[in-house]
Amino acid sequence: MSKLSLKRGPESVRYTSPQLISIVSGKGGVGKSIVAYNLATQFGSLGKKVLLIDADFRFGNLHILANSNCKDGLRDYVSGETTLAQSVTMLSGNVALLASVSGDIPFENDNVRAAADLVARLRRDASRYDLVIFDHSSGISEAMTVMAQGSDLCLLAVVPELASISDAYSLFKLFMQVNKSLDCRLLINRCQGEEEAVFVRTKFSALAEKFMSVTPIFQGWIEESTEIKSSVAAQKALLAVRPECPATDSFNRLAISLLPGGSLTNPGSDNSQTKRITNKMAPAEIKDVGIYG
Ligand SMILES: Nc1ncnc2c1ncn2[C@@H]1O[C@H](COP(=O)(O)OP(=O)(O)OP(=O)(O)O)[C@@H](O)[C@H]1O
Ligand SMILES: [Mg+2]
Repeated sequence: MSKLSLKRGPESVRYTSPQLISIVSGKGGVGKSIVAYNLATQFGSLGKKVLLIDADFRFGNLHILANSNCKDGLRDYVSGETTLAQSVTMLSGNVALLASVSGDIPFENDNVRAAADLVARLRRDASRYDLVIFDHSSGISEAMTVMAQGSDLCLLAVVPELASISDAYSLFKLFMQVNKSLDCRLLINRCQGEEEAVFVRTKFSALAEKFMSVTPIFQGWIEESTEIKSSVAAQKALLAVRPECPATDSFNRLAISLLPGGSLTNPGSDNSQTKRITNKMAPAEIKDVGIYG
């Protein structure tokens, strides 16, 4: 078996209802909000009920991406002023947003108790949703770490730049130090093609294996896409602007791979759900290039 294939964790994500997914990154601007918003939209289009949370308290911009004139839902919910149902703004029939609009933070970055309380309350209050997706701020904070650690899955966003790989590794290392069994998977964004995804995967794996003796899990990659830029300019989800383009396919595959029973498209795997969507090679099917011999 290739050293690049799965060695940690189950193939499908541990599933409780709702399933909590945290989108995190070391370096800023790597596409967390783009991924969170478009992944939520894809889940919604697959009939799943999604609660999208803008956990980037100070610089929340999911409401801008979605062109939604919404309330400061997360702050109101955390303060207890409103119930979850009163705090959300519907973006579509299936996707609700708990927004951070004003930069008026619900709690400080070092308030681990408030962060843990939020996760616990959501597990109780968000039972009508299939998925809860946290779009976090970049970098490391205690509150973010608690929310991520309290999630069923973390997607660690990284782009094909050494600084991003290095920062992602630092965050991954911290997460593993806190809890080695945390299901934290790498999602490589803004790839010009498969080679760049392999480059990131190789570099990251080499670091994690050498210094932590951990083989990380890769959830897949998303291409650098002019259609994504157009969707940002149009303040719409990619699916609405370009229902058929490679990046939309990537988000579709990503969503399906994260649903119960979905599996990773790792090297050599035959993901029938992926094959059903398209005969083209899935971006997540990164070939084992034999880096480790
Ligand atoms: N796959 C992609 N293809 C093309 N452009 C992209 C892609 N992903 C992200 N971008 C561009 O990068 C910008 C920054 O993305 P985004 O705001 O999601 O990053 P972020 O990680 O959430 O940043 P921050 O750390 O500041 O919260 C987007 O507005 C978009 O223009
Ligand atoms: Mg963001």
